[in-house]
Amino acid sequence: MMLSSYLLAQSIHISTKNMSLVLNAQTGKELKFVYFGQKLSDQDLNSIEKTEAARFAAYPAYGLNCTQENALSVQHADGNMSLEMAVQSVDKKDDNHAVTTTITMKDKVYPFYVKVNYKAYKDVDMIETWTEVNHGEKGIVMMTEFASAYLPIRKGNVYISHLYGAWGNEGKLVCEPLTPGVKEIINKDGVRNSHTAHAEVMFSLDGEAKENEGRMIGAALCYSGNYRLKVNTDESEYHHFFAGINEDNSWYNLKKDEIFTTPALALTYTKEGLSGASRNFHKWGREYKLANGNTLRKVLLNSWEGVYFNINEEGMDQMMADIASMGGELFVMDDGWFGVKYPRKNDHSSLGDWEVDKTKLPHGIQGLIDAAKKHGIKFGIWIEPEMTNTVSELYEQHPDWVIKAPQRDLVLGRGGTQVVLDLSNPAVQDFVFGVVDNLMTKYPDLDYIKWDANASIMNHGSNYLTKDNQSHLYIDYHRGFEKACQRIRAKYPKLTIQACASGGGRANWGVLPYFDEFWVSDDTDALQRVYMQWGTSYFFPAIAMASHISAAPNHQTGRVIPLKFRIDVAMSGRLGMEIQPKNMTENEKNLCKNAIAEYKNIRPIVQMGDIYRLQSPYNHIGISSLMYVTPEKDKAVFYWYKTEHFVNQHLPRIPMAGLKADKNYKVHELNRIDAHPLVFEGQVFSGEYLMSNGLEIPYNHRVRGVQPDYSSRVLYLEEVN
Ligand code: DGJ
Repeated sequence: MMLSSYLLAQSIHISTKNMSLVLNAQTGKELKFVYFGQKLSDQDLNSIEKTEAARFAAYPAYGLNCTQENALSVQHADGNMSLEMAVQSVDKKDDNHAVTTTITMKDKVYPFYVKVNYKAYKDVDMIETWTEVNHGEKGIVMMTEFASAYLPIRKGNVYISHLYGAWGNEGKLVCEPLTPGVKEIINKDGVRNSHTAHAEVMFSLDGEAKENEGRMIGAALCYSGNYRLKVNTDESEYHHFFAGINEDNSWYNLKKDEIFTTPALALTYTKEGLSGASRNFHKWGREYKLANGNTLRKVLLNSWEGVYFNINEEGMDQMMADIASMGGELFVMDDGWFGVKYPRKNDHSSLGDWEVDKTKLPHGIQGLIDAAKKHGIKFGIWIEPEMTNTVSELYEQHPDWVIKAPQRDLVLGRGGTQVVLDLSNPAVQDFVFGVVDNLMTKYPDLDYIKWDANASIMNHGSNYLTKDNQSHLYIDYHRGFEKACQRIRAKYPKLTIQACASGGGRANWGVLPYFDEFWVSDDTDALQRVYMQWGTSYFFPAIAMASHISAAPNHQTGRVIPLKFRIDVAMSGRLGMEIQPKNMTENEKNLCKNAIAEYKNIRPIVQMGDIYRLQSPYNHIGISSLMYVTPEKDKAVFYWYKTEHFVNQHLPRIPMAGLKADKNYKVHELNRIDAHPLVFEGQVFSGEYLMSNGLEIPYNHRVRGVQPDYSSRVLYLEEVN
């Protein structure tokens, strides 16, 4: 519903329950940023209008302020490289969940328009901001900078927390002070964007970030492609934060009347530290972004680390029987099931040829679905729709569909033959949609798709884009990807789809509206996962973080970690298994069976609850701890992991958080392996006590005289009267 369009609006107050963003929008003048932070009272709002200087443009444009960093910079059709944007109108739209404020600006001379949008949610402290650019000039306007948003952050003792890493080591955390100069966080992969860095950051305004206190700004760019987050700490009183698409090799030729829409930047503010900002991201994510964010996820077994490419009917049936017997609800057949002319025996061939290999699976997919039914579980399947191999029928039929620099040899990826399909091409978008649509049409009982993406755009060139628009490739790839995803979701809204991309390459809020979850990392080593899942949880809820129990020795690190610890770590996310059950002992299977049953009880708390991170593994004091609490604060799950093992070690007690001080909670240990129960098993403590003191947790397990060198605990807390 369109509420109003008030031309003479000056002060614009955009607010959520606890947050305010104030702009100054005087008609005919530049749009100015005034304030972002804690919610303002009417009195304060009134006063800051008179006292705050409003010195920065809310969306700075290049040309008459050449020494500054800008959000937007263009070359007009006539060659002029300057912009002078002035407010034309302000509109507000209420869609029940959120109010969107749109400020339309026009260049003072040219028919060139910018709309800056702010979508403020009513029940969660999140404001999404994005920009739309269009023009009526005679010819092309070349856009060379087009950030989604700009935010000035007052200097003080500001620290930035962000994630970095590499394949197998995703989501590592760094927290550092902002110092003079430019801090850039960028991605250039073309396809995936969260292996090496992440498009989300947190700014702690009161010195080094703390988990449960301190003023915090969180920002997440909702984009699946190349990005640039930039903080320019210049000679002023402010850090200047810009976030948007990475413009490198991506200048955009905007036609007359075409609308260029940037991805949204989601902004949150809290006084409750990093965990507080995470809770805002998680709630907003589950409610408004993540596909099926309010549906509990199934416990699954994925075949990859169990059999790799060695798929066959008997093996799949055995794995299905095993996961069913342990209480699992879903089996996912990973890579290796397809290819007729070129059977997929390894990663050298067959991507694109999504026909079942009958030599491996004589009864086809339907045979497997029937077998899953027989075992009382659901069945899911792996695909990699955006890719092909030069050894494939698809490539033989459509060599022009792959991304390739003209006049050059193809640059080849995984297996020495993998290449990326050109999703800027609508025919390729149809194909990608068709991969899912054909499977779902033939096998409507498919419950889950693992959508993988194992290559980058390694060479620049599109057969579809015109010669003048080759620089649109990175952007148009993701537009095409999104179009295909939108069609899939329109037709199959309930299908569970995992975003996998050589592990954690697609943990971002750009893809998650179309995916139910993501694979955190190809590294399933439980100790390393403590670190990766900690960082990833800054921005993404447990329901979206696929976390699997795998074999020992671990296939990536070779580390031998006791099953208890592997279970406890996996149980803090969306629990699954990534293992060959046939190689497990009966005792191990029983432990997993018990854990799956326990997980089903705590699943709503983990997947829908509020996170409170308590002790960071990055503090390197030998321990890491976190908990999830229901919104009603009547139930909680507490996790405690020892990250180092020394004799006569001294570890701190961990005060809990997020409970109600005046409620009483009964404590019960889950996944117990010790011969004797913990001294506090079944005891009742007040929230006050648990949050002031925590519980004295023994440093080691005592299992018939053995003291394994890893130790972990999962405690379930339930309110009692
Ligand atoms: C990379 C993924 O991250 C793995 O989980 C697995 O699906 C392989 N690809 C299959 O090729």
